[in-house]
Amino acid sequence: MPEIVVGRNDDDTRKYGTEGTLLLGKHLVGTGEDAHLTTPVLIDAIRPHILTITGKRGEGKSFTLGVVVEELVKLPQHIKKNLCSILIDTQGIFWTMKSPAEKSAQMLKGWNMQPTGFDVQVYIPAGQERTFSSAGVDYDDTFSFAPSELSAEDWIGVFGLDPNEPLGILLQKSFAKLSDKYSINDIVEAVRATEGFEMEKLGLENRFEAAKGWGIFGESRMPSLLESAKISILDLSLTPQNVRTLLVALASKKIYTERVAARRKEELAEIEMSSIKRTPMPWILIDEAHNYLPSEGSTPATNILNRIVKEGRQPGITLVLATQMPYKLHPDALAQTDLILSHRLTAKNDIDALKAIMQTYMLYDVTKYINELPKLKGVAIILDDNSERIYKVRVRPRQSWHAGSSPVAI
Ligand SMILES: Nc1ncnc2c1ncn2[C@@H]1O[C@H](COP(=O)(O)OP(=O)(O)OP(=O)(O)O)[C@@H](O)[C@H]1O
Ligand SMILES: [Mg+2]
Repeated sequence: MPEIVVGRNDDDTRKYGTEGTLLLGKHLVGTGEDAHLTTPVLIDAIRPHILTITGKRGEGKSFTLGVVVEELVKLPQHIKKNLCSILIDTQGIFWTMKSPAEKSAQMLKGWNMQPTGFDVQVYIPAGQERTFSSAGVDYDDTFSFAPSELSAEDWIGVFGLDPNEPLGILLQKSFAKLSDKYSINDIVEAVRATEGFEMEKLGLENRFEAAKGWGIFGESRMPSLLESAKISILDLSLTPQNVRTLLVALASKKIYTERVAARRKEELAEIEMSSIKRTPMPWILIDEAHNYLPSEGSTPATNILNRIVKEGRQPGITLVLATQMPYKLHPDALAQTDLILSHRLTAKNDIDALKAIMQTYMLYDVTKYINELPKLKGVAIILDDNSERIYKVRVRPRQSWHAGSSPVAI
């Protein structure tokens, strides 16, 4: 029986068959408890995509993200060398991908697979090293930013200030006094030297003093993320949410600008028919994505992520966005999504959000498909904008250790 490949157009299918795809799981045929597994379901990995993964709490979103990453590692070298992945881990559950899922050995047998640890690089904020070490987390290196890598706008965003209110205005005025490279102490001094009310200056100074405790500032040490075949996991689990969005913004900006510049060089080389070393096409995977690209309001990461959503295809950037609540995700991200993988969802708002994107071609109601799913973890429907089709799938088990399972009280 032929495999189902989602996200791949007919031309590519003719040319490449199933080469360069990720094994997501198997097609589920039938309804409810009578459903059975048939052909493999594969996701195209050679073109850029926006893949949105949704589902209620505990239905398998993070697990599925892990499956995608495992599959990226398993791609053959000649394809893998042109890709790299950056996973934003907000719960601290992906560092365990280095260890094999021994407890799933039996289940994996049914899929002709074995428990396997994967070669991923785990990075944590430099100032949190002691906490991670004492928790026994196996990380590879740390990262930090220089305060001068943040613009006045970034600071306003991360402090949640209004640029037109006194504190926001004071901050911008103070930044006008700063030179190229500055520390937090330099910023505080600039605030003191700026004209303004004492109370406001103090309020701003306190915010900057508090920022020293975030554990992310240092001499600017960012691992190179755009490295051939590299899988980087940024563990932001101990970082406050406003700072996480800032980190995601900074990392995404770096990735985007580097990749846009690289694409330009590649195109030039194509025209001149010369060969250059390729910069890999990144997959950016974000768990709990509605926190970075929300439907209401904005975060420091909103602008750059929206830019990638709209313009990321050309530089070859894939975004994988996991969220419990698709209707809380920015409408542009949903509108540009070409693959939706939805585990069970029940809230009407969320189902409506999915319907709105796919309404143009859907013969059946999304609700009907979701209701037909058996009551198992890891089952989902997949909406493929490319073939305008919808499939029920059982996501394959993880080969590496998944740290996100619920604790039991007994
Ligand atoms: N494909 C699967 N095969 C087997 N078990 C699965 C699968 N997907 C999920 N599970 C089980 O369900 C549990 C919860 O999955 P996961 O942590 O991915 O939930 P989630 O949707 O990310 O939840 P939350 O919204 O709370 O983060 C996993 O620990 C695992 O035991
Ligand atoms: Mg999760």
